[in-house]
Amino acid sequence: MSKFNDPAFLRQTQYRDASNLSARIRVHKQFSANPYGLYRWIFDHFPRQSGLRILEIGCGPGLLWVENRDRLADDWRITLSDFSPGMVQQAMANLDPKPRQMRFCILDAQRIPFADASFDALIANFMLYHVPDRAAAIRELARVLRPGGRLFAATIGKNHLLEMREMLSQIDPQVEFGRAAQWFGLENGADQLRPYFTDIVVHCYDDALVVTEVEPLVEYILSSQHATAAAEHPDRLRREIRRRIERDRAFYIQKDVGMFEAVRRRIEPEVDLRRARRLRKKTEPHPTSDDEFDAAKDAGRP
Ligand SMILES: C[S@@+](CC[C@H](N)C(=O)[O-])C[C@H]1O[C@@H](n2cnc3c(N)ncnc32)[C@H](O)[C@@H]1O
Repeated sequence: MSKFNDPAFLRQTQYRDASNLSARIRVHKQFSANPYGLYRWIFDHFPRQSGLRILEIGCGPGLLWVENRDRLADDWRITLSDFSPGMVQQAMANLDPKPRQMRFCILDAQRIPFADASFDALIANFMLYHVPDRAAAIRELARVLRPGGRLFAATIGKNHLLEMREMLSQIDPQVEFGRAAQWFGLENGADQLRPYFTDIVVHCYDDALVVTEVEPLVEYILSSQHATAAAEHPDRLRREIRRRIERDRAFYIQKDVGMFEAVRRRIEPEVDLRRARRLRKKTEPHPTSDDEFDAAKDAGRP
């Protein structure tokens, strides 16, 4: 198992609190070319239905809601959850005073403690790639979503931060940085959702990083805890970033970010098949050869 989807490492180290994630979010806030904002863009896709019951899984420090606090309908019921108690605490602090539509809880995506069909919309942003048993998590997401309800799952594609990864692999060819898309990315996420979801679409967010300062990017890279060789040689890392900024007046880094929107199937294909088999067992089997046909005829069947 990679550190990337090792629950103990994620809960106790990487996401023990919001400090690592915040270093990365700072860079996105400060140096993103698209001024609209990813969390505002994500929210734009949510249904505007009244009485919506929403569950967010892996909410982190709750930034989706911090950025869209002014857009919540009065009669929504929103549950923010994460498996890291430190993250839930941070989300509560960031959303203080608590909007009255909100509640918080600690839960693991692989075992969601809610009844079937409890929610109309489910959000799982930038988190499914961390889950070791993703099939179990996706089954759980589908179970607690009502048939016809919607899943929103933002993630990255394989070219996300490519230039940053290329620079890091010059320092450490084995670097694991930025490989999340191989677990649940824009290229392979739809196949993983398909057993339980239909009408799957990918929305793409157009953006790039245009980095003009060295230190925030160093902090970003070290916050991931995957760039271990770079952490051992931070001066080399600083030199490489500075060289690029001086050469091109900025370090240009592509972002490959998007979001799956999908509808909970009313009936899963395997349930369909199980039911069809049960129906077939209730009727007489079809004769499959002349012998069987004769035997069936002798037994008085057509
Ligand atoms: C990259 S952060 C994304 C946070 C937030 N969704 C956002 O978009 O800002 C991933 C979050 O998923 C949480 N997480 C990872 N594995 C989880 C699991 N199995 N169940 C619930 N939360 C999990 C982490 O604790 C972390 O807060």
